[in-house]
Amino acid sequence: MSRLCLYLLICLSVFSQSALAAVLAIDYGADWIKASLMAPGVPFDVLLNKDSKRKMQATVGWKREDRLFGSDASNVAGRFPTDSFSSLKYLQAAPYDSNTVSYFMSISTAELLETSRGTVAVRRPDGSEWAVEELVAMQFAYVRELAEHQLNGERVTDVVITVPPFYTQHERDAVIDAAEIAGMKTLALVHDGAAVAVNYAMTRTFSETPEHHIIYDAGASSIRATVVSLKSVSDGSKTKSPGTQITVAGIGYDRQVGGTELDRRLREILINDFKKRYKKDIRTDRRGMAKLWKEAGRVKAILSANAEASSSVESLAFDIDYRSKVKRSEFESACADLKPRYARPILDALENAGLSLDDISSVILTGGASRTPMIQAAVKATVGESKISLNVNADEAAVLGAGLYGAGLSRQFKTKDIRISDIGSYDMAISYQSEGKSQANKPRTINTALFSVGSKLGTKKSLSFRRKEDFAVKFSYKSQPVPGYPTDIITVDIFGVTEALQNLTDRGAIDPIVKATVSLSESGFVTVHEVNAFGEIKDESIAGKLKGLFGNGASSDEENASEEEPSAREESTSSAPAASPSPAKKTEGTIPLEFKINLSSIPPMSVAEKRTARDRLAAINKQETAKRRREEARNTLEGYVYRLRDLLEEDATSPFMKCSQERERESISEKVNEVYSWLHEDGEDAETDQYLTRRSNLEALERPIVHRYKEIEDFPHALNDSQRWNWSTRLFITEARQNLTEAEKGGLPSKYTHQELEALEKTLIDHEKWLNEMVEKQKRVKMNEDPVLETSELRAKVKPLENHLQRLVRKKMPRPKKPVKASTSSSSSSAESTSSASAGGDPKRHVEL
Ligand SMILES: *[C@@H]1O[C@H](CO)[C@@H](O)[C@H](O)[C@H]1NC(C)=O
Ligand SMILES: *[C@@H]1O[C@H](CO)[C@@H](O)[C@H](O)[C@H]1NC(C)=O
Ligand SMILES: *[C@@H]1O[C@H](CO)[C@@H](O)[C@H](O)[C@H]1NC(C)=O
Ligand SMILES: *[C@@H]1O[C@H](CO)[C@@H](O)[C@H](O)[C@H]1NC(C)=O
Ligand SMILES: *[C@@H]1O[C@H](CO)[C@@H](O)[C@H](O)[C@H]1NC(C)=O
Ligand SMILES: *[C@@H]1O[C@H](CO)[C@@H](O)[C@H](O)[C@H]1NC(C)=O
Repeated sequence: MSRLCLYLLICLSVFSQSALAAVLAIDYGADWIKASLMAPGVPFDVLLNKDSKRKMQATVGWKREDRLFGSDASNVAGRFPTDSFSSLKYLQAAPYDSNTVSYFMSISTAELLETSRGTVAVRRPDGSEWAVEELVAMQFAYVRELAEHQLNGERVTDVVITVPPFYTQHERDAVIDAAEIAGMKTLALVHDGAAVAVNYAMTRTFSETPEHHIIYDAGASSIRATVVSLKSVSDGSKTKSPGTQITVAGIGYDRQVGGTELDRRLREILINDFKKRYKKDIRTDRRGMAKLWKEAGRVKAILSANAEASSSVESLAFDIDYRSKVKRSEFESACADLKPRYARPILDALENAGLSLDDISSVILTGGASRTPMIQAAVKATVGESKISLNVNADEAAVLGAGLYGAGLSRQFKTKDIRISDIGSYDMAISYQSEGKSQANKPRTINTALFSVGSKLGTKKSLSFRRKEDFAVKFSYKSQPVPGYPTDIITVDIFGVTEALQNLTDRGAIDPIVKATVSLSESGFVTVHEVNAFGEIKDESIAGKLKGLFGNGASSDEENASEEEPSAREESTSSAPAASPSPAKKTEGTIPLEFKINLSSIPPMSVAEKRTARDRLAAINKQETAKRRREEARNTLEGYVYRLRDLLEEDATSPFMKCSQERERESISEKVNEVYSWLHEDGEDAETDQYLTRRSNLEALERPIVHRYKEIEDFPHALNDSQRWNWSTRLFITEARQNLTEAEKGGLPSKYTHQELEALEKTLIDHEKWLNEMVEKQKRVKMNEDPVLETSELRAKVKPLENHLQRLVRKKMPRPKKPVKASTSSSSSSAESTSSASAGGDPKRHVEL
């Protein structure tokens, strides 16, 4: 229902149709991938996978050589436990030695190893190693192909991807790197809470007084709460309907609680139960653990609706068919310690926003785990039943919102005017070395806050540094975002400071400084845009000198970032306060400085690494395409062989039998048998070309028979057409001759001359004669012989007649001429002859004059 509304609200802008590019949105979760597609001419909706499902499992895997995605990939985990990779979201930019990775190892049966970047890769049973980014890229690429398939092969490159608001810069890099490896450009990352808010706002209108809601998103790997305020905003323009402003006011989250942790607890119950009954530790059996993981998910789902669930896995491990029962109460008591944590993010988000529950209109539940009774109960207990709202689609709200957000960014689609102001989740600081004031004074490290929890995304700051030499500025999180995760983000090395400052000083600037413009981008990245040497250059007037003196006194070691000023106005934030309105003429001197962004302890993938990864993925794709082609060729040949066998066995009245000769059937039969045996022996694993060659050899034998059959079918129609032209021409000539005769009698001009009509009649008679002869010959041809008269020839032969007739029909009535002057040009001969004909002479002779 809401989908229909969305479609009605979104209309495409009509200009530059060809330039309209589709925007893909991906909601990549630990358990599920959802995608939506915004493209011209396609209703905006969730992208269906190959099984027409609206979501697919976030799993990639292999069954021996065959790469699998979604449920196919997760289903092979029981047989190939080290070749099926799920819950990869945990591992994005996770340091190999962090708790996150140990936790992942407790839920997964995959074999992990450390990359050169300190992150995680997997090792497949065949020994090949794949970085997490590459595995995620495979899934992104799979989704991209689904989208391209829906657009009939049109390329899809622009993507918007949802991320949890707590994702660090490193984790965000990992997402973007995966998209790039998958051949896509990330238009933006959008926090899932904000995306849900967009989806919520899309079909609703708001007043100018903001209303507050909490988006409570319980996913597989985490729980997030986002306080948003929604209100209507207008540009003051009367014509445009007002837009909606979404402002994220607070964020709370728990990175450890979620559906996966519940699955893990449930599996623990099963593991212990298995041990108690059979005195065996299933942990030693990867296959058993993989099967039990899947079973835990299934049992948990049953327990969401029932007080008890039976568990049953055939041949789980050690040849044991496992059967058991789990009570919901047992499961819930195993999770008792988590209970206070389910709703905690809501309280944190409120505190972050500086609001209380009373300010909140509703708590919108979303995310797969929000359906778990335990979690829902905890949220209800905290916020009160009346505030709970289930009015967005728990699975799809984020990806649909992200799609709309992306459409807004691409500016190619007209969407409802929804503006978002989101916030960051971390305190960030910069640090750098102070200048040694003197030889004795050792440089010290200066730490300054940069952005804080709740800083608006998409803001720029101008930083000033009193440094005389090249230096480096380190950007970092104030504390570890996750235990074991690095705090550093980027380091910026700034070059050419001394020369630039000297230049400014030489030009009269007093006490120039280094200024850097940094931003916390809409996608949550800290970046440095430019670094300049800056100074006010004054004239040598007394006033100027005085002012310089004041300015000089204002310097301090600790230069705070000016308050969230857009960079365009950074000059106004000069560290030297204007002491008095100075009459001195001054100009601003700015010299751009070279700077290099040096990477942190978890660098994003390098250009070369990404290129290699793309090549590896492309190689797999090529292999798979070749394999698909081979299988297709094989299947087509096999099918063809069976079809020919059937044809050979049909009764004598079938078209195939009627149109074929004994000799032909024999050679087909011989060849069919040969190919059939080949297919079941050497042909089992042949090259694509070998299948194609055999098929075309067989087709060559069948072709004459098919041709005869087609000719027999088509011939009456073609003949009918020819005869119709015959007939129309004959009619035309008769009528035109009558007109001519009448015109001659009345002394009037006539449209056609005798010669013209005679020439047409000759074409007609030639055609009729040929047609008669050929039809006679054709009558004697048997059905299983090649026709003497092909329909193509029939159609070709009638063309001249058709053209000739039409030329005359289209001819204009000659303009009546003054009959006095004899024409000298041959081009007017027809008009001339007509008028002369009326005089009763022989028209032919007149033309010859
Ligand atoms: C200062 O830099 C400008 C260009 O940025 C250059 O034209 C000028 O020569 C330099 N002056 C000195 C004194 O280095
Ligand atoms: C710099 O900012 C911090 C907090 O961000 C503040 O406590 C401090 O007073 C500021 N210092 C200056 C010199 O403005
Ligand atoms: C980049 O940072 C690393 C470690 O932080 C350091 O060893 C290296 O010298 C830096 N490179 C540059 C070009 O500053
Ligand atoms: C020939 O064409 C006419 C007119 O289109 C049609 O009525 C007649 O059935 C056709 N005959 C055959 C054999 O197709
Ligand atoms: C051509 O059409 C005319 C007029 O319908 C007919 O008399 C004649 O038999 C046709 N000729 C052939 C070869 O079909
Ligand atoms: C014969 O004359 C009539 C009446 O002027 C006209 O409608 C018709 O098209 C003419 N026929 C030909 C074949 O010129």
